[in-house]
Amino acid sequence: RRRLFAYTGAVGAAGIAVGAAGAAIASDTPSAASAAPVVGDEQLAFYGTHQPGIAAPAQTQGWLTAFDLAPGATLAQVKDLFQQWSTIAATTMAGRSLSSGDDAMAYGRGPSGLSVTVGVGASLLTKLGLEDRIPKALDPLPAFLNDALVPAASDGDLCVLVGANDGLVAAHTLRALQRAAAAHTTQRWQVNGFADAAGSMPSPTSTPRNLMGQLDGTGNPKQGTASFDQTVYVPATADPAWMRGGSYLVFRKIRMLLEDWDTLDRAGQEAVIGRDKLTGAPLSGGSEFTAPDYDKFTASGAFAIPAGAHIRQASAQSNNGASILRRAFNYYDGPRADGSPDAGLIFLAFQADPATGFTVIQQRLSGADSLSTFIRHEASGLFAILPGCADGDYLGRELFE
Ligand code: HEM
Repeated sequence: RRRLFAYTGAVGAAGIAVGAAGAAIASDTPSAASAAPVVGDEQLAFYGTHQPGIAAPAQTQGWLTAFDLAPGATLAQVKDLFQQWSTIAATTMAGRSLSSGDDAMAYGRGPSGLSVTVGVGASLLTKLGLEDRIPKALDPLPAFLNDALVPAASDGDLCVLVGANDGLVAAHTLRALQRAAAAHTTQRWQVNGFADAAGSMPSPTSTPRNLMGQLDGTGNPKQGTASFDQTVYVPATADPAWMRGGSYLVFRKIRMLLEDWDTLDRAGQEAVIGRDKLTGAPLSGGSEFTAPDYDKFTASGAFAIPAGAHIRQASAQSNNGASILRRAFNYYDGPRADGSPDAGLIFLAFQADPATGFTVIQQRLSGADSLSTFIRHEASGLFAILPGCADGDYLGRELFE
């Protein structure tokens, strides 16, 4: 079995392991740490009712990419692609080598919590002459206030989300998926995101932080509850039948205006969100998972959680019960022309219906959220995330029948 090793020193410039004082230590042989988590061995089952990447435990790598069909690509070719993608996903998620053409990029690594999640855009169905199968839920998102969307970095006929706890494992799988798709598609865009490694946080289940330094994910629906399933998955009675057990993904690439954000002191930043920055506790009191009290006032008569605070404006109670599952990854892609960091959130919202989920919330946030001054939505996509498939079957079969 693969193990994570705890090294007793950092590797110095000359490639020799060095101790804290800089003295060469006797050996750079890793000493096995029995309590260390086995990152490589973590494995998610590909086959099942839902695609596992939706509700997977937080992963450290999230790579999202979209493909467009090549002109003239046929339904039979797309069906073949879905069969190939399903085989690649099942094989790599199990940590096995691909039966043909494996480039061995991640040879010797385990599956590392890998998930491959496949979705289709409305444009795919239009191009294939399947307009009558387009779900209402794939109606284009409305334009929102302050949107600054770049079309070439948005939308697409197909999307794939590769999540893993190892970058090489993610790259290996994405490369295999790309090779399979190359004959009949072009890759439209790709965003690569990262999140805290489980081993670096206070506990493996700690809430991750984003690049504004906030704990991000606290208010998500809780896995294993009926309300989680209602929020996230298309019900077994909904139409079209090919989406039952699936979900809808809204992707937004949201740049953080970090230089403006940095001008706020900590109290100012906490007022924008409505939570304590370090602990994540709501400003109405308690600890991270205490329910926010939006009716609480401070001694000076102001709302404890300010009127424009992000959590107040995003909450289900402000939005007619609207709820989404957020699965965010950070990106930090170097300087923009003005020298400011091109950094922010690869924001992924899964829900049973975007019209009563993301759209309702974003319509409110884009106008009333104090956070909106510090962010810009720069890319967007809406995809039907196919239901899972049974062992031996392939993703999207219902679509081709
Ligand atoms: C909550 C950050 C964009 C919906 C939160 C919280 C933070 C946060 C720190 C509190 C902790 C938590 O519950 O996770 C951000 C940042 C964003 C962003 C930095 C952009 C860069 C959005 C967008 C939406 C959204 C675009 C939806 C349209 C929510 C919801 C909650 C939340 C539903 C939970 C509210 C509740 O507790 O009831 N966000 N967010 N966020 N956010 Fe965002």
